[in-house]
Amino acid sequence: MQGGSQPPEAIRPVEVADRVQWIGALDPHLRNFDIILRTANGTSYNSYAVRGSSGVAIIDTVKQEFTDPFLRRLEAVTRYDEITTLVLNHLEPDHTGAVPELLRRAPHVEICVSPRGVQVLRALLKDDFDSYTVRVVRTGDTVSLGDRRLRFLTTPYVHWPDTQCTYLEEQQLLFTCDLMGCHFCDERLFNDCVGDFRFSFEYYFEHIMRPFKRYVIEALDLIEPLDIAMIAPSHGPILRSHPREYITHYRRLVKTRLASEVGNQKTLLIFYVSAYGATSQMAYAVYAGAAENPGVRVSLFDLQVGEVTPFVDLIEEADALAFGTPTINGDAVKTVWDLLAGLVDIDTKGKLGAAFGSYGWTGEAVPMVEARMQGMKMRVPEKGIKIKLHPTEDELEDCRAFGRRLAAHLTGEVAAREIDISDLL
Ligand code: FEO
Repeated sequence: MQGGSQPPEAIRPVEVADRVQWIGALDPHLRNFDIILRTANGTSYNSYAVRGSSGVAIIDTVKQEFTDPFLRRLEAVTRYDEITTLVLNHLEPDHTGAVPELLRRAPHVEICVSPRGVQVLRALLKDDFDSYTVRVVRTGDTVSLGDRRLRFLTTPYVHWPDTQCTYLEEQQLLFTCDLMGCHFCDERLFNDCVGDFRFSFEYYFEHIMRPFKRYVIEALDLIEPLDIAMIAPSHGPILRSHPREYITHYRRLVKTRLASEVGNQKTLLIFYVSAYGATSQMAYAVYAGAAENPGVRVSLFDLQVGEVTPFVDLIEEADALAFGTPTINGDAVKTVWDLLAGLVDIDTKGKLGAAFGSYGWTGEAVPMVEARMQGMKMRVPEKGIKIKLHPTEDELEDCRAFGRRLAAHLTGEVAAREIDISDLL
């Protein structure tokens, strides 16, 4: 952990603003989050206590294993009977782990959650759910703490269906939970005091928010008109210095391609790997057929270069993908799977997908890749082409026709038709 030598559990509550206290937990030794996310700096689970003249609100809690230090910090700033409101901006376990214990000690509180959050809360509390007061809140709803007021903004899918933000009106303080958060543990807490967390901020966006870019844009549209003095996420530094720059930076991160780059053309990317040149011949033929359509910009990439990560950005902006892979040992080649696996960080839903490839004996690779694309919610309107060994001239013409049909799907000249998965087998 950066910023000091005292054990994380010994850290006292920290005043974030007048009568707003950080009561979260620091997790400096965490190195993996949700298995897939590397956390070289550990992380924090930020929770906040907001005191008003007629009550105290707790905003989010912490991961279950940090319940004890969390409750000690909470008890240092409020009695349980003073707490009137528990706001759950997001119900993933890293923010709700301490909820059951908190509710046992303060069963009278009103729990404010988004419409989708209710379902998760019910699953979390199980049979106890009906014994608590749960209020579903939407954009514009408020809760009074006497001389100050919390306002809710429904911001779904940043990055779960339940996510919302909460705005403390009097102090222009926005609690965003995961949004604009990052896995970076530093007990100095504030962005103007901690170490350089830019890498962690962007890494978090790339791996958590990027697949939901369209929803991030909607969330930013909702929060940007607010006067914002501070952004208080539930992971990483509290953004009190130049908070609006982080919104601007998120805008940059979610930027979509400029229309002038490709005009009104649709984009088709063809990736291929070829063992003996047969799938390569097919790829060039598919490319040539698709490129006849002036409404489609087609690009061809040989995955033998081995490094697939740079293609992910291209794919994110593309309208269609076609994969050419030979069948080797009853499977598609590893580079193709590597690229498909890399697409977990982007939104592929609705993109057009296609596959083709040569084979020696069985030819499983093409339907396997098609099934994978369907699993990623891509459209696969054309059954892929499999050619035994090297293609004949007639078969290359089939590939050109395949490319033409793919292009026609993109430009709306062919009615969409999903292939039946059983056709692929
Ligand atoms: Fe920090 Fe989506 O949980």
